[in-house]
Amino acid sequence: MLDLRSDTVTQPTLGMRRAIAEAAVGDEQKREDPTVSELQRRVAELLGHEAAVFVPTATMANQIALKLHSRPGDVLLAEETSHVLVYEYGGAAAHAGLITHGLTGVGGRIAPGQIRDAATPSTKIADQRATVLSLENTHNNAGGRVWPLHELEDVVATARELELAVHLDGARLLNAAVALGVGPATFASRFDTVTLCLSKGLGCPLGALLAGSEDLIERAWREKHLFGGAMRQAGIVAAAGVYALDHNVDRLADDHARARRLAETLADAGMAIDLDRVETNFVQVDLAPLGLDRAAALSALRDVGVGLSATILPTVIRAVTHLEITDEDIERAAELIPRALGIDARVATG
Ligand SMILES: Cc1ncc(COP(=O)(O)O)c(C=O)c1O
Repeated sequence: MLDLRSDTVTQPTLGMRRAIAEAAVGDEQKREDPTVSELQRRVAELLGHEAAVFVPTATMANQIALKLHSRPGDVLLAEETSHVLVYEYGGAAAHAGLITHGLTGVGGRIAPGQIRDAATPSTKIADQRATVLSLENTHNNAGGRVWPLHELEDVVATARELELAVHLDGARLLNAAVALGVGPATFASRFDTVTLCLSKGLGCPLGALLAGSEDLIERAWREKHLFGGAMRQAGIVAAAGVYALDHNVDRLADDHARARRLAETLADAGMAIDLDRVETNFVQVDLAPLGLDRAAALSALRDVGVGLSATILPTVIRAVTHLEITDEDIERAAELIPRALGIDARVATG
């Protein structure tokens, strides 16, 4: 199948498998794994932070971060469709005892005024208040949208003024950095804590990191253990991360170019795609104008050998490019998708 469901579907490449096979390993729980230590050092430096800790998933990194910044009964502010609010099984409440307050975003982004309003205590319980703000860049449910730097700076400055801790769910932050043409530390360093995921565009089988100050990351080690995430010879997977930093970062620009090419070709074929929203490796297709049911559309696509996936919006499906998708795959997808959905490109463009 031409699998465009997500950038999480990639298999480790031969080069990555070799790096895994040859990894120097040790007891990570005792902080003796040299490859984990190297990965942590490199990611901390890349993101402009003092330290980083390796964890199995980005969800765990986010959950640890939220615990570091709050006490049970505090309020978490985040865009209402962000991953921490909708896809982490209520972990913010279950693990940190947080009250979650979702703010309506535009393109996954929220504005300083919204944060200011939401952070003002509205209850008679004086210290039940917002203590942490979580932002997402790129924003998954918005379709891989990127925060413009000045907007991010304004929001973080507002949070600082309101004495909120700020966490970045940067599972795909390297896509954002590549799209903006800046080093990742340009924006990642502004946050108290930052999650980076290895198993998305970077192509690793698993793994994520949480970066922050020495103090916060020291506390994160303890939380990681509490989550059952303290590992042993974890260098076997951290090696994939080190390999990905060397080989799979700059090439994210190719994924973005391919997503754009696919979006433009599908739009030319008459499909409802907002090209302004294609900023990274996601292409969102609105089925509403076609009057097609989502499940039927995904099934018709599967039948011709193309995998797309559902989004949080009931009429929108998405195609996501990644390191296994070639230029030829894009040409093929651009031909198969309209055909499977009953659109005759010759008529639409003619
Ligand atoms: C923005 C964002 N944050 C966090 C995650 C969680 O990643 P993981 O599956 O590694 O827990 C995802 C996964 O899709 C994501 O898109």
